[in-house]
Amino acid sequence: MSAMKVPYSYLPDQFGDPEPFMAGIAEVVRRGDFTLGAEVARLEEKFAAHIGTAHAVGVNSGTDALFLALKAAGVGPGDEVITAANTFIATAGAIVQAGARPVFVDVTDEYVMDPDRVEKAVNARTKAIMPVHWAGVCADMDAILSIAKHHALPVVEDSCQAIGASLGGRRAGSFGLAGGFSLHPLKNLNVWGDGGMIVTDSAMVADRLRLLRNHGLADRDTVVTFGYNSRLDSVQAAVGLQLIESLDWITETRQKWASMLDAALADLPQIRVPRRRPDKEYVHHLYIVEAQNRDELLKHLVDAGVEAKIHYPVPLHLQPACERLGYKKGDFPVAEAQAKKIITLPVHQHLSQEQVEYVIEKVRSFYK
Ligand SMILES: Cc1ncc(COP(=O)(O)O)c(C=O)c1O
Repeated sequence: MSAMKVPYSYLPDQFGDPEPFMAGIAEVVRRGDFTLGAEVARLEEKFAAHIGTAHAVGVNSGTDALFLALKAAGVGPGDEVITAANTFIATAGAIVQAGARPVFVDVTDEYVMDPDRVEKAVNARTKAIMPVHWAGVCADMDAILSIAKHHALPVVEDSCQAIGASLGGRRAGSFGLAGGFSLHPLKNLNVWGDGGMIVTDSAMVADRLRLLRNHGLADRDTVVTFGYNSRLDSVQAAVGLQLIESLDWITETRQKWASMLDAALADLPQIRVPRRRPDKEYVHHLYIVEAQNRDELLKHLVDAGVEAKIHYPVPLHLQPACERLGYKKGDFPVAEAQAKKIITLPVHQHLSQEQVEYVIEKVRSFYK
């Protein structure tokens, strides 16, 4: 096979021709409808329908989606929120931003929060549970919801990487009190900058979120609470509205490449493909496997033009920013062991079959 480039980022392919998006943006500009315009409401409606919740509220990032959802759940200073040790810093950042303390728990062999660990982490200060549907894998919500119910705790789902992922036919974000999504350019459903969405079935929570994202304004002249400036821009919503129409194709293409990779790597003793449960639908935001000689494999792939990555080499509890939380090496052995072996292979919707075959060939040739 001759050398090929397999980029991690698909943005040049996706937006190489920006023209198809311009009509929607021009429409916003012509109307001067920049702030909470009609496009935001239309995207919220389509988003809620996709997830299967009664409401969706557009905000300015996935981080704010989580932060505002925590605020709406009543989380504040002195509280603890339980989350996974292997997530992106924004999960813990949103908890800290709400004034609370992130309490990490270890993860399963599917890289999602281990419900057995959650039960042990609950104490009198626990105010919420924030599972992360990591990499597009729905967390084990049945067990997490039953722990939450037992302790009367709200669940706020970090669904930032998991639009469309499901468990038992129910989509990520729709299990708990609220679910937060990111529309960052490198997410399955993306916009041209930052954007986020919160879904909920509770009209009360949705109303509260609409206040919180817009300075606490009930109407132009009435401020009912102190809030934030965290609106989803109408211009970004116009981009999102166009792309949500291709979301099923995006998901299905990622699933097709992931199945191809799963099948072609399964027999390699040096690779562990995570188990795929029949009751879960995976949306493969990140395609992660565990590999022997991971660092050498990564170099081999990058040298061959395959932009593989690691998400992430250092679990959160060992990051300098988390030092003040008092964790140490060995606290989360599963996440720590995975961090040494995981590798992320490109799986995005703009790859060709030849590119996926090339990735497979390069992984297999490394272990020959
Ligand atoms: C798991 C997770 N949580 C939260 C976020 C934050 O989203 P955003 O970058 O839109 O603020 C991201 C994405 O960056 C993420 O991957």
